Amino acid sequence: MRPIKTCIFPVAGLGSRFLPATKSIPKEMMVVVDKPLIQYAVEEAKAAGIERFIFVTSQGKAAIEDHFDSCPTLEAALRARGKEQELSLIENIKLSPGQAIYIRQQAPLGLGHAVLCAQELVNEDAFAVILADDLVLAEKPCLQQMVKVYKPNEGNMVGVMDVPYEHTNRYGILKVSQDRDKKVLAEDVVEKPAVDKAPSQIAVIGRYILNKKIFQHLRTQQPGAGGEIQLTDAIQKMISSDGLCGFRFQGQRFDCGTKEGWLEANMAFAYADPELQGHLKAIFKRYSF
Ligand code: UTP
Repeated sequence: MRPIKTCIFPVAGLGSRFLPATKSIPKEMMVVVDKPLIQYAVEEAKAAGIERFIFVTSQGKAAIEDHFDSCPTLEAALRARGKEQELSLIENIKLSPGQAIYIRQQAPLGLGHAVLCAQELVNEDAFAVILADDLVLAEKPCLQQMVKVYKPNEGNMVGVMDVPYEHTNRYGILKVSQDRDKKVLAEDVVEKPAVDKAPSQIAVIGRYILNKKIFQHLRTQQPGAGGEIQLTDAIQKMISSDGLCGFRFQGQRFDCGTKEGWLEANMAFAYADPELQGHLKAIFKRYSF
């Protein structure tokens, strides 16, 4: 099997659940502790061996391109002031020329449509997708865990976690044919089912390893839940021919597309940082949490 070298980052959504913050700031540029979400996503992809980074952007998302580009004025100023540590911080973020590719989704027609926008840029049989607003705190980065156990003959792979039944209507939910602890094989997946119709509590999060045959299905995919072209629906169509495997990753996932998820991510990431943990505890005390 050829290693997974390409990752798509769909970043063209409206981020309407986080307005007004996301009116002029891309949701994926929201900061958790000291880094924007999209930087966590790119670092996770790098740790998994990704070498090509495809960003599906839209109007108003230029800050994402700037973030991974060089910034000569800032770099010169830091150099002149001898701020070597800060300089290396921003130099390490840069993606080399040709490594980062930006394409536009001209209308927010859905996640499936955003992935379809990248079809001409994917050469390999399989590629990864990371949704930056699904942030995972883990000892081993989530995509790295997935790449390690991915087997093409098990079909597309999705990162999954068990959620309470009352939350199943927020996710793609798997109908499982075999549950092998970390890996589950699915016979169906339903996007945002009504709670009483959810086939299980196993929910798909924003990590995917997909076969490029997915593009054939996305090309003809009709709008589904929320009137959007859903990636889950195209994945569902491939189950009978190719299969679908869910991977229960180790780690904690935060939905940073919502205020509550983003707040909790800030707490959890600060708590995991030895330099900030003490401060966080002091803050908790002050507010008598
Ligand atoms: P979400 O549904 O969580 O993002 O999509 P959204 O549409 O921006 O958020 P709300 O619901 O309005 O608050 C998950 C990911 O897919 C991208 C988003 O940018 C996000 O990273 N996406 C979604 C696209 O790139 N294009 C789309 O048409 C929809």
